[in-house]
Amino acid sequence: MITANKVFDTIEKKRKSNPFSNMDIAKLSLKYGVHQFDDESSPVDAICSLIETAKLTSEDVAFDLGSGFGHFALTLSALSPARVFGIEIIQERVDLACAAARELELENVQFICDNVLEQDISSGTFFFCFNSFFEKTRCKIFSVLEELASKKKFSIAVTTDMLHVGTLPSWLCFVADIKSSSRLGYKIKLFKSVG
Ligand SMILES: C[S@@+](CC[C@H](N)C(=O)[O-])C[C@H]1O[C@@H](n2cnc3c(N)ncnc32)[C@H](O)[C@@H]1O
Repeated sequence: MITANKVFDTIEKKRKSNPFSNMDIAKLSLKYGVHQFDDESSPVDAICSLIETAKLTSEDVAFDLGSGFGHFALTLSALSPARVFGIEIIQERVDLACAAARELELENVQFICDNVLEQDISSGTFFFCFNSFFEKTRCKIFSVLEELASKKKFSIAVTTDMLHVGTLPSWLCFVADIKSSSRLGYKIKLFKSVG
């Protein structure tokens, strides 16, 4: 059984030995355009608590929107039978996440290097956005998800900075607060869509 800590250790070892995985913001912006390139991963205890609460099955298709180095997507693929996709704009982060998936022999996860706005995410039954986007991208991806909510049911876990304070979109229904002992400046909340 692969634990969440094993996934995190595998990623962090690769990050330390790969000089390209930690490029500075200026270089990233030149190469990929202007995006929110924060490389913070969700805390391991929050990921575990979210996976336990979401209870995904082999019927589920999960998208980590802005998957970074793959901490969440790889842990989810290790701890649940869902089919997992990570979409990440930075090729070096995708390459590292793919290498970690190979080392951990995880077969139910795939990483796609692209802008999330360019990918068809309509097969998703679960979405995760951890502090991922600048406002323009956030609005567009939320429009895509709102449109999807009118057609099918899905769950979505987001950090509170991805929501406008006090204005919960009408297509989201609160399910649970995700516990974490880490001192985050925001919380992770789980919602389900209402069509
Ligand atoms: C804070 S990290 C999230 C890490 C990951 N979700 C986790 O919890 O382990 C946010 C990631 O979103 C990526 N990102 C930002 N804008 C994006 C976009 N438009 N399309 C795809 N990825 C994007 C960034 O490059 C960054 O790696």
